[in-house]
Amino acid sequence: MDGPGSWAVVPHFSMPKATPSQSARLVRRVKISAIGCYVPPKKLTNADLEKMVDTNDDWIFARTGIRTRHIVEPGVATSDLSVEAAKLVLEQRNLKGSDIDTIIVCTVTPDMMFPSTACLVQDRLGATGAWGFDLIAACSGTVYGLTTGAQMIASGAQERVLVIGADTMSKIVDYQDRATCVLFGDAAGAVLLEPSEDPDLGLLDYINEVDGSGGHMLYMPAGGSRLPASPETLAARMHYVHQDGGQVFKYAVRKMSEVCVEILRRNGFTPEDVDILLLHQANGRIISAVADKLGMPENKAINIIEEYGNTTGATIPLAAREVLNNGRLKKGDLVVMCAVGAGLTAGAALWRWAY
Ligand code: UT7
Repeated sequence: MDGPGSWAVVPHFSMPKATPSQSARLVRRVKISAIGCYVPPKKLTNADLEKMVDTNDDWIFARTGIRTRHIVEPGVATSDLSVEAAKLVLEQRNLKGSDIDTIIVCTVTPDMMFPSTACLVQDRLGATGAWGFDLIAACSGTVYGLTTGAQMIASGAQERVLVIGADTMSKIVDYQDRATCVLFGDAAGAVLLEPSEDPDLGLLDYINEVDGSGGHMLYMPAGGSRLPASPETLAARMHYVHQDGGQVFKYAVRKMSEVCVEILRRNGFTPEDVDILLLHQANGRIISAVADKLGMPENKAINIIEEYGNTTGATIPLAAREVLNNGRLKKGDLVVMCAVGAGLTAGAALWRWAY
């Protein structure tokens, strides 16, 4: 058996479009070794939203599956949630900040445009040897972050990569727009990647995709170099999430089903082989529809949206934490993570769970 940090020929670890010589190159298997999540205590219920916009609990629950979301107090930022989640991961593995090589914060709500949230987190964790960066892929961010971090370890360049999916969506949601404000919440999920001592456990494969032609379906129009903040952009409420919900819904169901089927097919599995399906939590109806298209029992597709809403970068770590805590996710389970988000972005990662 290979020890941590050792090298092994793992031809199965395939990159999309890899040539035979590329996929047979020397790589290390990479595992998730810890997950820690932080959810702010303050709840925003459907009843609270009824007082803010023309909506009601029946509509929200029937159309989305959401009853509550957690949101931060004024003054709390994405790095604050990230640091709390990261501390839990370090505690679980009995590590210090200085044991981390790389920090990737997957977010669309950085504390500020620069420095990156990863730099702020690095400082507060005392991760003195780490480098890091923010990764913008919206709801697919954590799948992109995990697969990016895994490559760093697989190549032998790094030993421990901390991937944090974190968002304070309450800071960019328009609480006058009933079509979006009912959907989102705030949270952070930190995931530690390390070399796998067992070559059969860890990340087996991934697929990441971008279709920029759908960028207009879900975006924040102002605040970047195209439309810097101005009195006009503020007056036009352009610093908030704008979404064509129906189009995103259809894309999410189609694309998540497609990438799940493809990643299973090319690794010789069928949906029946999957123990746990960790889908991005955007809408309970999307989760049910994807499970249905895959012909999977709905209870394998983890659904925690009722309590948290859509927390963008944090949804998949939160869902993983739920099944780890209730004992449903066990070592050796076949797990698919899959997400779709603004961009449009999509990603799937196939794991043999390692702890
Ligand atoms: O994580 C990023 C990816 N994002 C997503 O995956 C979100 C995908 N989209 C969705 O989840 C759904 O499209 C929504 C939940 C956003 C909307 O649900 P829908 O079933 O697609 O509703 P709709 O937009 O077709 O609207 C149906 C009706 C409309 O009224 P009319 O035009 O039929 O009179 C809306 O104005 O529901 C109305 N409506 C609401 N009514 C009460 C929209 N939002 C609300 C609301 N409360 N909050």
